[in-house]
Amino acid sequence: MEINIALLPGDGIGPEVIAQAVKVVKAVGQKFGHTISFQEGLVGACAIDATGDPYPDATHEICAASDAVLFGAIGDPKYDNDPKAKVRPEQGLLRMRQKLGLFANVRPTFTFPSLVHKSPLKLDRVDGVDLVFFRELTGGVYFGEPRGRNEQGTKAFDTNVYSKEEIVRLARMGFEAAQKRRKLLTCVDKANVMATSRLWRETVQELAPEYPDVKVEYEFVDAVAMRLIQWPKAYDVLITENLFGDILTDEASVISGSMGLMPSASLGSKVKLFEPIHGSYPQAAGKDIANPLGTVLSASMMFDYAFGLSEEAKLISDVVNLSLAEGIVTEDIAEGGKAYKTSEVGDWLAAKILG
Ligand code: IPM
Ligand code: MN
Repeated sequence: MEINIALLPGDGIGPEVIAQAVKVVKAVGQKFGHTISFQEGLVGACAIDATGDPYPDATHEICAASDAVLFGAIGDPKYDNDPKAKVRPEQGLLRMRQKLGLFANVRPTFTFPSLVHKSPLKLDRVDGVDLVFFRELTGGVYFGEPRGRNEQGTKAFDTNVYSKEEIVRLARMGFEAAQKRRKLLTCVDKANVMATSRLWRETVQELAPEYPDVKVEYEFVDAVAMRLIQWPKAYDVLITENLFGDILTDEASVISGSMGLMPSASLGSKVKLFEPIHGSYPQAAGKDIANPLGTVLSASMMFDYAFGLSEEAKLISDVVNLSLAEGIVTEDIAEGGKAYKTSEVGDWLAAKILG
């Protein structure tokens, strides 16, 4: 197969973790006889520094012409500490999601047999957790208008808005995923308070009869935040709006033992995007210590979701599991054992694939 991947390393540890995923992807290409090419683009703070724009047109063109986008992370503390900054790296990510039509963010949470004891939660709660969030990604309070300040600057406002259409297309993906899994769908909302949430609940209720094999539960977001830690095995597929999904997926990543481990896929149109759920981790940038596995597993999802190459995808997740079992891990999960460098983990994985 001929595959053309857009690479957006971004900021902070982004370039380091992407470099490891590239080693793995190249190894898979070599092993299975795929011709894989990479086109690199700028996004985030590095794009602002170079062009003044966090998502330059040139980058969008590279993405739009690709078969899939592999993205690292964005964000830079110099913007976080300046609430008045006019251009922010995060705007690049939001614009990219919107322009590429990526309305669904698939974020799985699962545990690795060799790591379960490292979770901050008790073993019986985390052992065997396997859930997946479908987070709506191009609507809600992230994009709603009006937003901003009053003239005096003494009041600020954001708007949460959802159309039925936006809910339907996300919910259908959740239902279809549930049909292929354990057939449980949880609609996460705040329908006791918010009008948008009531539309979510009503819309999901209307769709449910089309998926009679799927059991649907409705749960308030605050209760989910609690039960996700108390008994995460209660969940299979969760669907939710943009902001709730952002918060809950960070929370859920703790279950696996390290945020650096979890991948994600953003879907919705021809070009799909794959990225680890962690951020740019600026304190670690350039130190070769960041965990590359979230990005490597995102590359595994890419083979599956974007190219339909499930054997290639499985080989990547198998070697990741092997690296964990053999203790070839970065410092975030080394816990007293030897901590390998980011680049060493990438080299090890690539060698295993070819070996
Ligand atoms: C994420 C991130 C982004 C989000 C930020 C960087 C805009 O936290 O992908 O979860 O909130 O969506
Ligand atoms: Mn987030």
